[in-house]
Amino acid sequence: MKLKNIAITSFACLTLGSCQPQPWDEVGTSLAYCHRQVERTLAELGNHESGTDYTLMPRNIADTASVWHLRKATKEEWCAGFWPGVLWYAYEHGNNSAIRQEAERFTASLEFLSHTPAYDHDLGFLIFCSYGNGYRLTGNPSYKQVILDTADTLATLFNPTVGALLSWPRHVKDYGGHNVIMDNMMNLEMLFWAAKNGGGKHLYDMAVSHADKTMNHHFRSDYTSYHVAVYDTLTGERINALTHQGYADESLWARGQAWAIYGFTVVYRETGDQKYLDFAQQVTDAYLAHLPEDGIPYWDFDDPRIPNAPRDASAACVVASALAELNTYVPEEKGNQYKEQALKMLHSLSTDAYRSGEQKPSFLLHSTGNLPAGSEIDASIIYADYYYIEALLRWQKQLKNG
Ligand code: GLY
Repeated sequence: MKLKNIAITSFACLTLGSCQPQPWDEVGTSLAYCHRQVERTLAELGNHESGTDYTLMPRNIADTASVWHLRKATKEEWCAGFWPGVLWYAYEHGNNSAIRQEAERFTASLEFLSHTPAYDHDLGFLIFCSYGNGYRLTGNPSYKQVILDTADTLATLFNPTVGALLSWPRHVKDYGGHNVIMDNMMNLEMLFWAAKNGGGKHLYDMAVSHADKTMNHHFRSDYTSYHVAVYDTLTGERINALTHQGYADESLWARGQAWAIYGFTVVYRETGDQKYLDFAQQVTDAYLAHLPEDGIPYWDFDDPRIPNAPRDASAACVVASALAELNTYVPEEKGNQYKEQALKMLHSLSTDAYRSGEQKPSFLLHSTGNLPAGSEIDASIIYADYYYIEALLRWQKQLKNG
């Protein structure tokens, strides 16, 4: 990966507020940039004889490519909800009715998931990023029903003996038990939401139980996370902890820790229980302590090739978004630290070193999907774009309110 030099000093200037532009301006400029890239992607997707196929979702752009690689929205394609989610955020930003129409059309391609047996835990990513944002912005009652039905489907993965959802039913044999991956923390939000919107208290209880199990068994004593924890299906005991996408079983896979930061922040929001806030801070502080100068993590903090290892911009986007929420829950001094860190991440992401710019229609370069599998290394990946625009919008609201 060839990162251009980033002028960190200019960020110091930003945070101290002594020279232009201010973070507020930079967030606004970055959102306008995202809007232009969305228009480019929509034009690219519509540039076929038969027009846009709304069941094909942008997934990635390899470092050597310049157009989106599209994937069919199937139950196995865990990223299919992010593009509709990007469109909903773009609509929220610009209030553009043409973008809303496209968001509605891509979102509708995922409706089948609400009446399809659960393939795995990714239903939250798939439906809450698409229908969840759609419902938040439009109040469309049919969207609400899709989310409620899908939350019920997700709940079928809950094993009461273990006290957690089964993340990957297809890997039970490989792992020799009930597997839970850190990413699964992201899908609790849909259960919490459904519980508050007529889905039943049992969904709340499942989400809390899953969070507790994860908090107690998925972390090392220094608050760094394992990617996968395996539990005995009959006793619920943890029998193994290992990696799937990281460098090694005992390494710190950056995106896994990012999912944990975001996930436990949501659990605190939904429960109000201080223990989750304390934990979210510990997990965040462990992540921040590992960051390189520009605030964008290496894909795995223990890759021995560092500083020549690939980065993972997607993890930075997830954390920048989570910190927009977490900083509001903690004491002022800590909140200011989180704010400064998050704005530094967003600033780095918004430089030419990480932006796709004219080269490609994605927002960002330099994410890493699954390095051990040789997949999506140093690429544009749709979930990086999703959490980037989410982070920008969250910070824009917060900076606007002082
Ligand atoms: N949920 C899969 C990943 O983070 O790559």
